[in-house]
Amino acid sequence: MKNIVILISGRGSNMEAIVRAFRREKWAARLCAVISNRADAAGLAFAEKEGILTRVVSHKDYPDRQSYDVALQKAIDEYHPDLVILAGFMRILTDGFVNYYAGRMINIHPSLLPGFKGLHTHRQAIEAGVRVHGATVHFVTPELDGGPIIAQAVVPVLPDDDEDSLADRVLEQEHRLYPRVVGWFVEDKVAYTRDGKARLAEDVAASLDF
Ligand code: GAR
Repeated sequence: MKNIVILISGRGSNMEAIVRAFRREKWAARLCAVISNRADAAGLAFAEKEGILTRVVSHKDYPDRQSYDVALQKAIDEYHPDLVILAGFMRILTDGFVNYYAGRMINIHPSLLPGFKGLHTHRQAIEAGVRVHGATVHFVTPELDGGPIIAQAVVPVLPDDDEDSLADRVLEQEHRLYPRVVGWFVEDKVAYTRDGKARLAEDVAASLDF
């Protein structure tokens, strides 16, 4: 039985998609807690309604990144997580924190990495004139948005797209992609290799048809 902790900062729609898949597919896992760095994160209400334990570890209560990450790690570790899911957790994490969870912390980023790291990814995609865009789930490493890629979802960029329309199209795919990847973890179909790569079981690698 895998222990899962989800970190959010806001809307929490990816967390919601993961919780729904967890219920629907009856994963052999425990959703131990949803932790937010902001008390006003809208996603907390959904998690509470679902009977999932929620916690706020506010960055405002700590003087610097280092001490915040130590407190966050302490809170997360109370649940002995096998997997820590960053779902719109909008904080830069210290190397110590990231290395501590090496191979068991994943993130979703709204672009086809390694393109368009950082913020405003949909604006970056439109300005670059790319024809396809999407989302990436990756292991978290100290290099921002640079960890080994686990899976990606692709969407077209249409001629009349603006940032919002493109963001909506990508988000719809995020909600399919992220639960799918978490489901693979639960089934031990994703591994973080000794040389720091993401390795997928053959059947799931072959199932990436979107
Ligand atoms: C999602 O689009 C996610 O990919 C993005 O924030 C949004 C969170 O939405 N994450 C990042 O940009 C991380 N750098 P949500 O709170 O509704 O899941």
